[in-house]
Amino acid sequence: METADTQKNGNPEATRRVCVVGASGKLGRYMVRHALDRGYEVVGVCREKSVGKLAEFDGRITVVPGATDDRDVIARAVAGCDGVLAVLVPWGMRHYASGTAQAVLDYAPPGARLVFSCGWHITRDGKDVYTRRLRAFVAVVGRLARLVRVVDLDDQVEACRRIFASDTRWTVVRGSDLEEGESQGLPVWSRHVGDPVLASNLTRRVDFAMFMVEALGDDRLVQEAPAIVGCLTPSALACAEGAA
Ligand SMILES: NC(=O)c1ccc[n+]([C@@H]2O[C@H](COP(=O)([O-])OP(=O)(O)OC[C@H]3O[C@@H](n4cnc5c(N)ncnc54)[C@H](OP(=O)(O)O)[C@@H]3O)[C@@H](O)[C@H]2O)c1
Repeated sequence: METADTQKNGNPEATRRVCVVGASGKLGRYMVRHALDRGYEVVGVCREKSVGKLAEFDGRITVVPGATDDRDVIARAVAGCDGVLAVLVPWGMRHYASGTAQAVLDYAPPGARLVFSCGWHITRDGKDVYTRRLRAFVAVVGRLARLVRVVDLDDQVEACRRIFASDTRWTVVRGSDLEEGESQGLPVWSRHVGDPVLASNLTRRVDFAMFMVEALGDDRLVQEAPAIVGCLTPSALACAEGAA
């Protein structure tokens, strides 16, 4: 298990300009705030109709409007960036998540840190152990959503398969269930869902965003797929106590 303390190996100075792909969503706006707080220059990509959701950042970030799977949009937005924070969302049936991931992989400058968000249902090596509840949720919601052609969870799986196969400096951050609320601090992480530290399955969205931004400067997370959980959840506290 990694703790918030041992995870802090950041070198934010190395990354000056970051692109937030999916900046207008809830996670995206938190990431923009964290990045600005840390002194990064921020470029945000969001759908044209959502640009207004970034009004609070007027004059402080550059906005590139467009679909996040539009390769021209991504090519323009990531130019000159040292880091890319990409929200992978499986909307619609037109390979939105895999198109977004592929465009970022193809156009981010060589050597850039690429940090992608997804959920626990993504597995890198098949060694995650899921509760019956989570398996049922993914199966039922995935099937229903596909049926009404709103969401395609399989496309998020495909997006991550491509990222895992890439030799870029990627990190795939796998979020637990999320809640709103004030920050509790940097989440803790583990390589596999099912590890005791993750049992509480809850993270504040603002802290998920913090983990994504901190990952930019943490080389130990390169080519890792950390599953995260709030640092003040019972399971995280119990593991910290056990380790003390
Ligand atoms: N929600 C959870 O409980 C949960 C749990 C674990 C992990 N995660 C992960 O956390 C990340 C953020 O998820 P979130 O649920 O918190 O959502 P979110 O941050 O609000 O982001 C939703 C994103 O989807 C975009 N979007 C919405 N409708 C769309 C459409 N029809 N076509 C294209 N894009 C559309 C939004 O763009 P606009 O601003 O333009 O609408 C926004 O960028 C995702 O990677 C997700 O897999 C979520």
